Amino acid sequence: MAAQVKSKQRVEEHGEVFTNEREVNAMLDMVKQETERIDSRFLEPACGDGNFLSEVLRRKLAVVTERYGKSQLEYERYTFVAVSSIYGVDILQDNVEECRERLYGIVKNAYEQQFKDDCRPEVLDSIRYLLAKNILCGDALTLTTNNGEPIVFPEWSLVMGSKVKRRDFTFAALLNVSAEAPTFDMLDEIDQDEMGKIIPKPIKEYPMTSFLEVAKYE
Ligand SMILES: C[S@@+](CC[C@H](N)C(=O)[O-])C[C@H]1O[C@@H](n2cnc3c(N)ncnc32)[C@H](O)[C@@H]1O
Repeated sequence: MAAQVKSKQRVEEHGEVFTNEREVNAMLDMVKQETERIDSRFLEPACGDGNFLSEVLRRKLAVVTERYGKSQLEYERYTFVAVSSIYGVDILQDNVEECRERLYGIVKNAYEQQFKDDCRPEVLDSIRYLLAKNILCGDALTLTTNNGEPIVFPEWSLVMGSKVKRRDFTFAALLNVSAEAPTFDMLDEIDQDEMGKIIPKPIKEYPMTSFLEVAKYE
């Protein structure tokens, strides 16, 4: 079993005690259907080295393999969707790096097991880029990065086959979303300010691109 504590100092300063596999699985089983939905969005605001996120990814990829394992392009597209919908924040940079590396390793192993020598490096490059944008170092209480900038998450939507649309949102804007979805009648009565609270506005929109070329965005 992996160690649950790295050091006494980290426990004292950051409350860092990792959750063991049995508990991770028991908790994820409470939302089992969501963990097996390829495009279901998960955001963990204190993700550590990714105990929860890696298990979510494993479950999603098992579905990708089962459904699309016979078609390489479909497998690659849905692997992209599975990873693109997983988000994490941690205040400690080494945890963030370990988490990204761990998720990357899970994708790479699954992909290589399925397609062996036919694996395309550009698919793995896109996955690396997704993880660099979705798993971020910052403070989930102040919603800022360690430089004091707002934490920004991209939303990735696969549209028109292999094309991807990216829109960036601040973490703060995402959390301001009203928990109650408006009815159509209510929409007529809501002014623009109210609307902004219900539907967060992206701070940046990007032109559509192939899922294999997202790394060219910046
Ligand atoms: C109890 S551990 C849980 C880690 C992981 N979720 C797990 O279950 O294994 C808490 C994590 O939160 C991080 N953390 C502490 N304060 C934080 C904050 N303000 N914002 C983001 N992460 C924070 C710590 O670095 C640590 O990795």
